[in-house]
Amino acid sequence: MEKIQNAIAKARAERDTAPGSSVNVGRPSVGASTDAANSSQVLEAWDSLPELKVDNRRMEKNRIVSFSGGKAASSIDMMRTRILQQMRVNNWRRLAITSGTADCGKSTISLNLAFSLSQQSDFRTILMEMDLRRPSLAKTLGIKEGHNLAAVLNGSARFEDNALRYGKNLIISTNKGAWKNPAELLQGAQLPKALAEIEATYEPDMVIMDMPPMLVSEDVMAFLGQVDCVLLVAAAEATTIKQVDMCERELAAQTNVMGVVLNKCRYMEAEYGYGYYG
Ligand SMILES: Nc1ncnc2c1ncn2[C@@H]1O[C@H](COP(=O)(O)OP(=O)(O)O)[C@@H](O)[C@H]1O
Ligand SMILES: [Mg+2]
Repeated sequence: MEKIQNAIAKARAERDTAPGSSVNVGRPSVGASTDAANSSQVLEAWDSLPELKVDNRRMEKNRIVSFSGGKAASSIDMMRTRILQQMRVNNWRRLAITSGTADCGKSTISLNLAFSLSQQSDFRTILMEMDLRRPSLAKTLGIKEGHNLAAVLNGSARFEDNALRYGKNLIISTNKGAWKNPAELLQGAQLPKALAEIEATYEPDMVIMDMPPMLVSEDVMAFLGQVDCVLLVAAAEATTIKQVDMCERELAAQTNVMGVVLNKCRYMEAEYGYGYYG
């Protein structure tokens, strides 16, 4: 535990001193794009990213329902609206999505939220795959480029070579395989700089970080100093109340807990099985 506390303290200190760090003070609020945010340099940076084309059948199969319309998409849109409200009010930008254990649906929810946000034309979102032990987004989306966000975060590759743009206002950056030393990377001094640089170039209104499960390694707790808030995903019939309670308390001690999403719930009115408890 002491190790985690030290790592968090270190990450916070580094984040507070990083140039262009995402500390809330003085930065434009979520969704309030400034003139500078629309500067030609930023637009050019977005335009020059290669485009991600999605295959609707693949999306459907992988439960990415946010473009399909209907009941399932509307429960995602409701979650999006509530998250947006909270982030705007608090002037938060970086949202981490985690769960206690694996397979609760973090990546599915991250993607659904990101695509749902992409429908807001005046809002820029970047989705970053931070589960470096078990990356899954490239496979889910059918990305074959062999991108490696981890290499960008450790300073050995360029973001523009490891990210794709969906439409005009969503960027997705994935990993082709597991990274050998995720703990070192997520707690390293280079990462805050890399994040700040990406934000300075693309000026996103929201950065969604698809995290690893928090009970499996120290990665998440050590990383929380880098984010403004966190969403906890629980899987009905797999995550126990005790686990949710413990995770929520541990997260709340380190950052702002946005809420708990109950996923994979067969008996909920919403066809897709999402419940959001903000
Ligand atoms: N609401 C849901 N109902 C049924 N299966 C789901 C649901 N959400 C996700 N899944 C499936 O569960 C598996 C794990 O989801 P994933 O998003 O990769 O979890 P995590 O990122 O938490 O490990 C995937 O096969 C995914 O398609
Ligand atoms: Mg995942």
